[in-house]
Amino acid sequence: MAENSFDVVVIGAGPGGYVAALRAAQLGMKVACVEADKLGGTCNNWGCIPTKAMLESAHYAARLGELAEFGIKVGNVELDIAAAAKRAKKVADQGAKGVAYLFKKNGVEHVKGWGRLAGRGKVVVKGEDGERVLEAKNVVIATGSRPKDLPILKIDGDRVWSSDHAVFPTAMPESLAVIGAGAVGMEFADVYASFGAKVTVIEALDRVLPNEDEESSAVVTRSFKKRGIEVLTGARLEKASVGKDGVKLTVQPKSGKAQTLDVERVLVAVGRAPVVDDIGLETAGVQVDRGFIVVDAKMRTNVPGIYAIGDVARPPLLAHKAMFEGIAAAEAIAGDEHAGVDYDNIPSVTYCHPEVASVGLTEAKARERGLDIEVGTFPFSANGRARTAGDTEGFVKVIRDKRYGEVLGAHIVGPHASELIGEFVVGRRLETTAEELERAMHPHPTLSEAIGEAALAALGRALHI
Ligand code: NAI
Repeated sequence: MAENSFDVVVIGAGPGGYVAALRAAQLGMKVACVEADKLGGTCNNWGCIPTKAMLESAHYAARLGELAEFGIKVGNVELDIAAAAKRAKKVADQGAKGVAYLFKKNGVEHVKGWGRLAGRGKVVVKGEDGERVLEAKNVVIATGSRPKDLPILKIDGDRVWSSDHAVFPTAMPESLAVIGAGAVGMEFADVYASFGAKVTVIEALDRVLPNEDEESSAVVTRSFKKRGIEVLTGARLEKASVGKDGVKLTVQPKSGKAQTLDVERVLVAVGRAPVVDDIGLETAGVQVDRGFIVVDAKMRTNVPGIYAIGDVARPPLLAHKAMFEGIAAAEAIAGDEHAGVDYDNIPSVTYCHPEVASVGLTEAKARERGLDIEVGTFPFSANGRARTAGDTEGFVKVIRDKRYGEVLGAHIVGPHASELIGEFVVGRRLETTAEELERAMHPHPTLSEAIGEAALAALGRALHI
């Protein structure tokens, strides 16, 4: 095959794009992956990975006050967010190198530059050394998303941050207002509060993490308030003025008088928008609806030979969903008729403390659908392993279909919720029942026992509560 001809050209090397490239290469295709910035995309370089590194630092910081009780007396403690950021950056850089290594190992060519569709089967890449035209039998668009702005408060990278500006701080603000209590808002609120900032979370809807089960939102709100984080829900941002030394915000709560806040910085965390501009979609005739590229179950767009995956394709905007769509696209290109993604079984995790994780239906959604359900909840305060760790906030909640016993949804708030949810994901993939979860022997003492107990609770016979 000629130097510039490929079976698959992937545009974007985030978790969707690089995984699509690797899987296509595994399947024996000649693959190029076009990326203008760092390999690994938002997730590895500015998102999932460095924020989790920052949250790790935050967790240590937040627990300092408990150490004496654990038998450890520390002297003068100094929190240094710049050092934490340096470490987070190092972890991200390692990840980018890891993607480069995997490309090399699998024979994927990284074409550095900005890729644009230039008609069917053609991608033009504008790099530092000029333009290169790639011939592609198939193109996978994986251009991701970028933070959304607010009409009355423009992100300027100085007083008004997006997550991109908040992730590697060089100094600590005294006060921070976080607008939006989705995953981004809640994770950064945790980081900055743990390092000592006065944090106020402002959420338009009536609870934090509004996509999660109501009980999960309630536990996190309680916990944040206990830590001194102010949480304003049902709150509308009416006015904002950016000054030399800070930002003045006027917030209208659901009831009562408007409130004025003076803060040093603001983090705007009101969602992300797909990157669909300047990638040649119109030239190629690719259909876009409400900002997202329209795809079918096999990630095919309306144009034969052009696929789209990840944040640019459809919600939820999650790295693991993007990876799975990448695999599905590569397998569909290779002709696998089973290619596809199980959209009913996408886990969601927010890594603030306490962590929040879920999969499947919330209790409210299950009831809305008129399903006959039984709900079992088990608190970590009754779990031995959580008590040994001194980390007993939260619960495991199982929503079980009464007739067939199937686990319709699972919600976890508390220690290592992000890891524990995996058991439910596998269980649901195997269409498991609460009875089977309860019969599976969980090691003692572990947090995972709370899963067996929640399953028992859904059957009306929890042992330890
Ligand atoms: P989001 O859409 O999850 O949450 C945004 C929040 O802002 C919503 O609760 C919304 O009601 C609120 N909001 C919108 N406009 C507002 C306004 N004017 N005033 C007050 N509140 C307002 O978006 P987020 O948190 O920015 O995350 C972006 C994407 O990245 C999401 O799809 C999220 O799932 C994903 N992500 C996932 C993470 C994870 O899996 N741990 C971590 C970070 C992001």
